[in-house]
Amino acid sequence: MSPPEPQVTEVAAPGAALAGAIRQLVATSPDARISPPISERGLLHLRSGPPFRHFVLQQDAQLIGYAQLDEDTDHVGVELVAGGSRPDEVAVEMLAAVDLATRPAPLRMWAHGSNSVAHVAARRIGLIPVRALLQMRRTLAGLPAAVPPPAGVVIRPFVPGQDDEKWLAVNARAFADHPEQGRWTQADLADRLTSDWFAADGFLLAERAGELVGFHWTKVHSDAVRPVGEVYVLGVDPRAQKIRLGRTLLLAGLRHLRQRGLDTVLLYTDQSNVAAVRLYTDLGFEVFATDTQYARPAETLSTETRAAAIADRPAIHARQPLSQGIAAQFT
Ligand SMILES: CC(C)(COP(=O)(O)OP(=O)(O)OC[C@H]1O[C@@H](n2cnc3c(N)ncnc32)[C@H](O)[C@@H]1OP(=O)(O)O)[C@@H](O)C(=O)NCCC(=O)NCCS
Repeated sequence: MSPPEPQVTEVAAPGAALAGAIRQLVATSPDARISPPISERGLLHLRSGPPFRHFVLQQDAQLIGYAQLDEDTDHVGVELVAGGSRPDEVAVEMLAAVDLATRPAPLRMWAHGSNSVAHVAARRIGLIPVRALLQMRRTLAGLPAAVPPPAGVVIRPFVPGQDDEKWLAVNARAFADHPEQGRWTQADLADRLTSDWFAADGFLLAERAGELVGFHWTKVHSDAVRPVGEVYVLGVDPRAQKIRLGRTLLLAGLRHLRQRGLDTVLLYTDQSNVAAVRLYTDLGFEVFATDTQYARPAETLSTETRAAAIADRPAIHARQPLSQGIAAQFT
């Protein structure tokens, strides 16, 4: 008798051992060399209960697939990582289960890196790309000369406990149109300030007449084979934009990373963020990879068209052949 086909199962809140196995799956995924399959936010919530949900697939007591759902007010966010000998099939199986478990809520799935198995899975079950996040990189050699701050602006490091509230306010104003970054709360900030990578001297604030007007928070990924720096968050209060403060802060942070001995820096930005993409391109950043957000096709239509499409449409993924692909490994 052949062993039962492994099923994707939901775990209410993963324990420490499962969270460790998920981190291991992420770290050893071939896709992680380009872009980690689960974002920083996802990794911070591996053990969280609602609004987070966790789906796993195990083979011979070994974790080979994990999908994390974040049930937001207007959609369900999804990220997944897949391993085993057929990661593409595992990814499809995970996503098919998530697709079924989340209907009829709108779904938004991030596939990180340009060629990860998450892209394969998204296309196989009929999702379509709706948003692109560029990963841009540059070497830290040959940086342009430092730019003096605009008149009346001073730059100093962030002081935890003292600057939290005003930073959250400026972050919300600068990223008012950004679906994730603009909604950071004190808890989101505290998660990062207590992370082992946090370094206050890499978190630069710009003040004008005692008011916070901009910031550049840098990060060092020392877990990478070769440590790499990141422009973690760069923002200028709309009241102080277009006076070259963004350029000043960006360069100051890059010089800090260079002084820390790093030779490469990366950043993520929405492809549609014209100001940011222009600033980064001007300062020598080039596109290294593209993360893509996918949705069900009908979810990109107007409410009326969508209702009609849902009523008319057959199921959008062919579960049968995909399950057979997975099952073949276990029989
Ligand atoms: C992106 C951002 C940091 C730029 O800061 P800024 O202080 O306004 O930019 P600067 O005045 O230093 O301009 C630097 C360059 O950015 C580009 N730029 C800035 N604003 C722009 C705009 N509205 N449209 C097009 N290009 C723009 C230009 O290339 C400009 O160079 P120039 O002055 O020679 O034209 C700022 O717009 C911001 O905080 N945006 C919201 C948050 C955000 O998107 N952060 C980046 C996320 S990855």
